[in-house]
Amino acid sequence: MDRVLILNGSPRAPKSNSKRYAEIFSGKFSGQTEYFNISKKNHREICSKLDGVSDVMFVFPLYVDGIPVTLLQFLKTLERNPPRSKPVVSVLINCGFLEDWQTDVAIKMMALFCRQNGYRLGSVLKIGGGEAILDTPFRMLAVRKIKQMAVSIAKAKYRTLHTTMPLSPNMFTKASTSYWIRYGKKNGITKEQMQTMRIE
Ligand SMILES: Cc1cc2nc3c(=O)[nH]c(=O)nc-3n(C[C@H](O)[C@H](O)[C@H](O)COP(=O)(O)O)c2cc1C
Repeated sequence: MDRVLILNGSPRAPKSNSKRYAEIFSGKFSGQTEYFNISKKNHREICSKLDGVSDVMFVFPLYVDGIPVTLLQFLKTLERNPPRSKPVVSVLINCGFLEDWQTDVAIKMMALFCRQNGYRLGSVLKIGGGEAILDTPFRMLAVRKIKQMAVSIAKAKYRTLHTTMPLSPNMFTKASTSYWIRYGKKNGITKEQMQTMRIE
């Protein structure tokens, strides 16, 4: 496999962690990659790019224990506009919580899409603590797994991989709480404001 189409299904794709994961993947993949942010307007364009591609990799975050609506809407378009030959579908998902297995339901959603539409599910990489890991000393754990994923796709020896930050839930909660309080302060928002249900 020497060409992979990478599709970013994050609702904040241009500034997303998924984009950073995709960039690492491109750097580790031995063949060519072509990258697209999925947006409301480019579904048909992306569908046409799938013709003649052996592998596609969706990279996206976990949203409310499932796949983000940006990706869901694209899959609906893809269902109506399939390529002539179906590429193998790999998935690189990251979630905010520490436990990478929290992404399992979203992976099942992707597996169901593949099964119902005649695609083979290829490699899967689940990254826990995905909002933070790339800016910590644990970055290398994510990079190592992304490299393994890139090799698996290049060799068509598909596999399921996972990684997270080796922290206890307690340490993770403390670190993430102080991160978000600092983040809020930088944007003029207090901890109390962040704890309300008001979004405006
Ligand atoms: C609306 C929303 C819902 C989310 N739901 C979950 C969730 O259910 N579980 C989880 O672990 N992380 C959840 N997250 C965290 C994201 O998965 C995490 O921040 C991820 O790194 C975002 O990736 P991105 O920058 O590629 O969009 C959610 C984030 C948002 C904004």
